[in-house]
Amino acid sequence: MTPKTCIFDLDGVVVDTAKYHFQAWRRLAEFVGVAFTHEDNDNLKGVGRMESLDYILAKSPRLFSNKERLALADQKNDDYKELIKGINAAELLPGVSDTFTWLREEGWKIGLASASRNAPQVIKSLGVEGVFDYVADAGKILNGKPAPDIFLDVARALNSAPTDAIGVEDAVAGVTAIKAAGMIAVGIGDPALLHEADVVMPTPEGLIECFKLMQAKA
Ligand code: BG6
Ligand code: MG
Repeated sequence: MTPKTCIFDLDGVVVDTAKYHFQAWRRLAEFVGVAFTHEDNDNLKGVGRMESLDYILAKSPRLFSNKERLALADQKNDDYKELIKGINAAELLPGVSDTFTWLREEGWKIGLASASRNAPQVIKSLGVEGVFDYVADAGKILNGKPAPDIFLDVARALNSAPTDAIGVEDAVAGVTAIKAAGMIAVGIGDPALLHEADVVMPTPEGLIECFKLMQAKA
């Protein structure tokens, strides 16, 4: 197999916004009077806004109306947007910029499969929106991660067979989605947590070497 398409997750792979999602969710959890641990956060990585909110609200003995749920989701998002207001290219994770350059030089297609509705604004702030041949619109994807839909949407848009694509993810739900899509999964983070991935590395710094090995094997 000669992978020629690389599909990136955004939060926690391209940029360290995962920490800002964590902060905003923790504040929201405090607001509704429930605990929010790092383990909860790991479970929520890659998971959409309303699904994440419902996970947190399920810890409360109270029931929340739909109107309250929507207001709480807005509250979290306003908080998150405030936290990412100043982000710029300096916040790209180590190795990301060089990986984009290498993939371009080698003629790969590059896609973005982020569950975040803030993704277009984030990539603009980082100055990398021009890198992507296609950016999935999270609002138009029927089933969120761990379903494969968003990765399949990107592959389709890039005219790539799933088996010719590599997905890069920091979330357990994201790795499951990549594997369900029939793609090679590269995990960024803890190998114990991301055990479903084909390869796991601590940061994106090892990506170029990993892609070179895959090309050599093909
Ligand atoms: C994912 C993040 O990329 O996007 C989650 O890993 C986040 O933490 C989800 O909840 C949805 O993001 P947003 O910006 O649409 O609320
Ligand atoms: Mg992520």
